Amino acid sequence: MSRQRSMSGTIPSMETSGDQLRDNTIIIVLGASGDLAKKKTYPALFGLYKNGFLPRDVHIVGYARTKMDEAEYHKRTTGYIKVPEGDEENKAKVEEFKKLSSYVSGGYEDGQSFDNLNKFLDEIESKYQSKERNRVFYLALPPSVFIPVAKNLREHCYVAKGGSNRIIVEKPFGKDTDSCRELLKALKEHWTEDETYRIDHYLGKEMTKNLLVLRFANVAFSSGWDKNSISNVQITFKEPFGTEGRGGYFDEFGIIRDILQNHLLQVLSILTMERPVSFSAEDIRDEKVKVLRAIPPVERSDTLLGQYVAANGKPGYLDDDTVPHNSVCPTYAATTLWIHNPRWEGVPFILKAGKALNEAKVEIRIQYKDVTQGIFKDISRNELVIRIQPSEAVYLKFNTKTPGLYTRAIPAEMDLTYKRRFADIHIPEAYESLILDALKGDHSNFVRDDELDVAWKIFTPILHWIEGVSGPQPKPVGYPYGSRGPKELDAFIQKYGYKRTTEGYAWPVTNVANL
Ligand code: BG6
Repeated sequence: MSRQRSMSGTIPSMETSGDQLRDNTIIIVLGASGDLAKKKTYPALFGLYKNGFLPRDVHIVGYARTKMDEAEYHKRTTGYIKVPEGDEENKAKVEEFKKLSSYVSGGYEDGQSFDNLNKFLDEIESKYQSKERNRVFYLALPPSVFIPVAKNLREHCYVAKGGSNRIIVEKPFGKDTDSCRELLKALKEHWTEDETYRIDHYLGKEMTKNLLVLRFANVAFSSGWDKNSISNVQITFKEPFGTEGRGGYFDEFGIIRDILQNHLLQVLSILTMERPVSFSAEDIRDEKVKVLRAIPPVERSDTLLGQYVAANGKPGYLDDDTVPHNSVCPTYAATTLWIHNPRWEGVPFILKAGKALNEAKVEIRIQYKDVTQGIFKDISRNELVIRIQPSEAVYLKFNTKTPGLYTRAIPAEMDLTYKRRFADIHIPEAYESLILDALKGDHSNFVRDDELDVAWKIFTPILHWIEGVSGPQPKPVGYPYGSRGPKELDAFIQKYGYKRTTEGYAWPVTNVANL
């Protein structure tokens, strides 16, 4: 198999941490019959395999409680791999991929099942030419079995010498500060921090990874990256569908735990941290933790909560059978965070996320301050927009003279839309990029234990308020399925100084006639 150019090699001047891929590796996917494995883990493993990014002689072993034969296992694990009609090359790759992958069924709680798994792994490894053995355990599992599985793996499937062991875990990492600490403590009894890779898949997204380069490799951006130039920042997550089918899970967690406390806060920390001394994982994560520690817990008065109601022929949140009929769980939240450090004092960072909205979009919008008045009056503000998805883009809204005989300022944009500028480059899925990092031993894009702790401290008081731990529960305001969110949103954002741009401006087309 030809090994392609390494992914980090696409930016030759960037020194990243982590070692190289190790031969003699087995990737063990626990929870192989579940949704996450089927939809994300296996397609990502296939993406890596197809492009030559998996270690030589890699094996994949699925493990779950479900009893099924290999044919059924392969059917399930390749069901979400998209191969265009008539693409014979990729079809053949899927067949090759299946040959790398086997299945073992067993329980999560009993040691004997894990002895059985270990025997299976030993057998594969006995055929290696060298004695080195590397095992990567990917836990695509519900939190209720995290701990017994982590314990059993450590006790029954651990390579004691002549190799390495890594464990990849997924959120939720607890529900608040205390439960997170308990979970961390329990995991640490079996696995060291160095062996542990905590996924927040937003850290694997191309645009999130680009933040480091955008910020620190461009003097033009970095010099105005502070309270002197920036008025306010919004980080927005919008999904056009409701909880359909996942109501039970969602109701226990709510939108803050699902999106804000992890995905959006991670993006915020990279957006606002100080320049790391190097690209090593610990240097980056030290800076992230430092900035997060400067953020006090979210205030109730800085919070707007919403819940979608039936509209446009679509059901409301409470119409979902899996949701308690009187639930006050927010499906929308906007919270404003403040960073008390010299760079950011006084700049509001508004994190917004919602389900059942009018579009699918995740973006960062940095709005600069007004230009000094005098020769200009009421002209629009500069905005730097970093579009995480869909269709990655970075564009800067700026003012320019109206072309022609008038001297008037109009907003236009410098636009880096990836599809246009990097037309023939495949952008990897977040999971591909993260699994590759874990295989290489690079922790930079995984969440460290102290990061988690401080992230929970920011949101725990507001979560306890929402859950009625400290008094009556707040009632979220209703918003129609398919709308922009609660109607109170515009006033909420304006409160923090956000100014809507001139009527008539719409990226990516500026029609002078409309201005
Ligand atoms: C998950 C949330 O972490 O992220 C889901 O649990 C959400 O509710 C998903 O849909 C969004 O991920 P992406 O990659 O589609 O933006």
